[in-house]
Amino acid sequence: MDDGELEELLRNERYPRSAGYSARWMVDASMGPNPVWQAEALVELMPLDAGMRVLDLGCGNACSSVFLAKEFGVEVCATDLWVKPGDNLRRVGEAGVEGRVHPVYAEARSLPYAEEFFDAVVSIGAYHYFGTDDLYLGYLSRFVKPGGRIGIVQPGVGGLVAVERGVRSRQRSAGA
Ligand SMILES: C[S@@+](CC[C@H](N)C(=O)[O-])C[C@H]1O[C@@H](n2cnc3c(N)ncnc32)[C@H](O)[C@@H]1O
Repeated sequence: MDDGELEELLRNERYPRSAGYSARWMVDASMGPNPVWQAEALVELMPLDAGMRVLDLGCGNACSSVFLAKEFGVEVCATDLWVKPGDNLRRVGEAGVEGRVHPVYAEARSLPYAEEFFDAVVSIGAYHYFGTDDLYLGYLSRFVKPGGRIGIVQPGVGGLVAVERGVRSRQRSAGA
C-alpha cells in the first residue's frame, strides 16, 4: 500500500492532533492498535501541562512518548523492556524531541526511578503485561508525586470508557 492510501485509511476526525503525524510513521512503529490515537484519547481525560515529567511505561517504539512531548510540552521517560533504548533514541532524534524524550530500558516491576519523581504515568496497550499482580498499582503509585495521575489505556470495544474508569478509580484510591 502506498503512503497516500495509508494516509487516507488512517484519516480520523476523532483524533485531530494525531492527524498531524505521518500514517506510515504511526503504522510502522505501533506495536498494537495506534498508540498515538490512544495517547490523544487519554489526554482528553487526563490533561498534561507543559513541563510535567511523565513516565510512559511500556512505550514500545516510543510513538506515544514523542506525541506527548511534541503536543503537550512534557518531558517523557520512554521506558520499555523489549525495545532497545538506542533504537528509541534514534526515533526520538528523527522526531526532533531529543532531550525531551529519554529512552530507558527497564523492567516495570523494578523501576530505576526515585519515588515521587513523576507528575504522571501513562501506559498504553502494555499494562496487562506487568500490572496483573494485585499489589502492582500500589507499587507504581510510589513513583508519582502526591496528587499526580496514572492513566492506563487498553484498546478494545468501549476502550475510551475503560480509560476514564481507570483514571477515576486511581483518583478515588488516592482520596481525590
Ligand atoms: C503491545 S506493546 C505496546 C507498545 C506501545 N505502547 C504501543 O502501543 O505501540 C507492549 C509493550 O510492553 C512492554 N513490556 C512488556 N512487559 C514489560 C515489563 N515487564 N516491563 C517493561 N515493559 C514491558 C514491551 O516491551 C512492549 O513494548
